[in-house]
Amino acid sequence: MTDIIFTEAGNAWNSSLIYSIVFKTWSITSRTTPLCTIGLLEQGTTLPPTICLIFNLALVVTLVIFGQKFYQLLFAPLDLYRDLGSVGYVHHDLNISKEHSIRLTQRRKKVGDTPPVFPNGWFRLLDSGSIKEGQVRSVYAFGEQMAVFRNSRGKVRVMDAYCPHLGANMAAGGKVVNSDCLECPFHGWKFSGETGKLVDIPYAQKLPNFVSVKTWPCAEVNDIIFIWYHCDNEPPQWQMPVAQAVKKLKYVGRTEHIINSHIQDIPENAADIAHLNHLHEPVIGSDVEQTNNSIINNLIKHGIKASWQPSDNPLEKHCSSMTIQDDIYMHIFGRKVHLVQLNFKISQIGAGAVHIYVQTPFFHGLMVQNITPVEALQQRLTHSFYISPWVPTAIGKIFYLLETTQIERDILMWNNKTYLRKPILVKEEATLGKHRRWYQQFYSENSPRFNKKGKLVFPARCDPTDW
Ligand code: FES
Ligand SMILES: [Fe+2]
Repeated sequence: MTDIIFTEAGNAWNSSLIYSIVFKTWSITSRTTPLCTIGLLEQGTTLPPTICLIFNLALVVTLVIFGQKFYQLLFAPLDLYRDLGSVGYVHHDLNISKEHSIRLTQRRKKVGDTPPVFPNGWFRLLDSGSIKEGQVRSVYAFGEQMAVFRNSRGKVRVMDAYCPHLGANMAAGGKVVNSDCLECPFHGWKFSGETGKLVDIPYAQKLPNFVSVKTWPCAEVNDIIFIWYHCDNEPPQWQMPVAQAVKKLKYVGRTEHIINSHIQDIPENAADIAHLNHLHEPVIGSDVEQTNNSIINNLIKHGIKASWQPSDNPLEKHCSSMTIQDDIYMHIFGRKVHLVQLNFKISQIGAGAVHIYVQTPFFHGLMVQNITPVEALQQRLTHSFYISPWVPTAIGKIFYLLETTQIERDILMWNNKTYLRKPILVKEEATLGKHRRWYQQFYSENSPRFNKKGKLVFPARCDPTDW
């Protein structure tokens, strides 16, 4: 087969070694042999130069795309976002679409007799890296629109987004000005990031001195921006601890799931020891219905021992701890062969943060879990995972994805369950009751809750007829 196009083009450029290498490569890839081999062209056919060029360009683009995907798979951190409905639902009525079935399940879910919906404490709003100096971001949490910005000194501010002048949402087009103020995009009123006070009206001689917007106490710890939520606006009663491992270990990635449940259902999972050896016995698959009887899950199973207890340190009564010993066995010809042991040391810090330290024979890691109420019965569950620096990112990602499928098995439960104020517990489940009593400390008299008619009420600011 002759390389017609390169003979012609090469005449002009043959003085350069580099170009000759390029031409050689090009000529090899331009041959029609692959197309002949797969039967698209007759053997020995050559293509016109323009077709060869298009063919080569397509080949290069394909290689670049595959190369990029391959690189991402092996080296880039995981970034997985699962919106409400993308996992954690079943689709049994095939007469209706999956989307419709999910919407119906959400609408028909019986809420149950729930505790208050917004506990007091520190809650994650954003990852630190997601907001730069001078940037404003809109965040919806606790059923409130918030404007989050980073001032020119690098400090993060969080304030209510609605401008008291005429109600514009300052996170939609607002600007950071005068190093630490948020300027409303509508008429240019400016509010101090520190105090929330109105500091300037560009067209007014005199400022009304009673005008301000609510600011939220915030802190940046472990590369996460937290806000302090308290139904009575009380100041922070404890601080988020620094996890040194975040700086020492290698970042593997993050996952984010939106869940349709009461917030307490999620941390309560830690004290629900009995579910570990049932729901989490299979090693793979977030789809409980489809994967429980798969060959791999019949062959390899988790065997879990766990314990949970509240902290006995009076200064850390907002903390609790858990240990999990996870032995993975192969079940073969009626025998159990031990494969590996994983150990987890878990600290729950307040109502919305959990640090999960993982120890395996090959590496150790830290999974940082945070739960933030988006609204009364919708939670944002995020995890960031860090691993021993010598472990290839790809291995870390596989481990992380396997852990994520376990979380997604829980999400099927949380999305579909009701909240039973008085569950029927057997003796072996005493820790569940203990956890509920421990978690009570995060609610106070004025915590928002559903009244008997199912309406969300804010006792601190509601009129008594709401009850
Ligand atoms: S609405 Fe914000 S300045 Fe007018
Ligand atoms: Fe679980």
